[in-house]
Amino acid sequence: MSISNSHRRNSHNLVVLGIETTCDETACAVVENGRRVLSNVVSSQVELHAPYGGVVPEIAGRAHLEAINPVISEAIDRAGVAPKHRATSDKPGIDAIAVANTPGLIGSILVGLMAAKTLAWVWRLPLVGVNHLHAHAYAPCLDADPVEYPAVALIASGGHTSLYLSRSCLDVELLGATIDDAAGEAFDKVSAILSLGYPGGPAIEQAARAGRADKIKFPRTLLDEKSLDFSFSGIKTAVLYYVNGTPGAIRSGVSKGIENLTKQDIADIAACFQAAMVDMMVIKLRRATLANKAKTIIIGGGVSANSALRKAVVELGKDIGVKVRLPMLQYACDNAAMVAGLAYHYLRAGKIDDLQLDAIPTTRR
Ligand code: KG4
Ligand code: ZN
Repeated sequence: MSISNSHRRNSHNLVVLGIETTCDETACAVVENGRRVLSNVVSSQVELHAPYGGVVPEIAGRAHLEAINPVISEAIDRAGVAPKHRATSDKPGIDAIAVANTPGLIGSILVGLMAAKTLAWVWRLPLVGVNHLHAHAYAPCLDADPVEYPAVALIASGGHTSLYLSRSCLDVELLGATIDDAAGEAFDKVSAILSLGYPGGPAIEQAARAGRADKIKFPRTLLDEKSLDFSFSGIKTAVLYYVNGTPGAIRSGVSKGIENLTKQDIADIAACFQAAMVDMMVIKLRRATLANKAKTIIIGGGVSANSALRKAVVELGKDIGVKVRLPMLQYACDNAAMVAGLAYHYLRAGKIDDLQLDAIPTTRR
């Protein structure tokens, strides 16, 4: 995706090239002044992982290696920019290289990180490492107005589900996170249980459209009264038992199994599971927003593409009188524009890394 770059640029504009390879998307984007997306190229590996029902780290790392150079070239071409030493009046120069270096799959992060370090070294540009989850929380600022802070951000993806308090895009504090499965992982696993395919989120959302969300009351795990952590393993097991029966029922031969469910049954289960997931996330968002007197609610990560969640968050905002900022769909899932956009603010604040920048697979930030 690229947008027109026909606007006038002046010498104060900062052009950042961002790279994102933390999971299964090879992405590169060029963003001007932290907001204007000049190009946003994403190469998805979804077809490679679909037969396994989830991301296979070794396959992901190898696929990034094949895709990274063409994806970077395409992002530069589409943006109409050039390395700084080859900049002309028509082709502005790239001022910095940004990369998501944490958290994610180590073999995947390393591919993007090495590419970013190479470009920074060869082109003598500053290198900026960005936390992938903080970048998701920045995504609503792309091609849009700045966010009003403090904001509470729910970042829910295939690997993470975290709540943040953003005092600004540079000052981000972790309020809570999942203690077991990520929300996206729960969607993917329930989709597998229901034989709906991979990735599970869009498949469940599609099936749920024909379902009745009040048919089955799946549990809402909220942990203790004030907790801002999440737990999604219980609902996954509840769906598994609902479909296949509990171990005891299976042994005694009374369970039904997926082959005995009608299309309508599956749609109902998908709708009720989705409703429970949305409830759990929205309840925690409400708690965190009120407790921190936030002015804005942000959602991000692949799960934030879910229309039932988006609708419920908009309703929550109306209910408690807080602004809601949803990322555009192309910036909700993994992309590099969010990385380049956030890095602009790091650069302005002098937060620059050197070539020793590490790949950090896990983080509690
Ligand atoms: O942020 P993302 O693109 O990659 C990771 O960093 O994991 O998130 C991918 C996850 C997958 O688990 C996928 O099933 C989920 O986001 N997802 C959705 C939807 N679209 C993607 N979950 C619920 N509803 C959706 N519409
Ligand atoms: Zn992500």
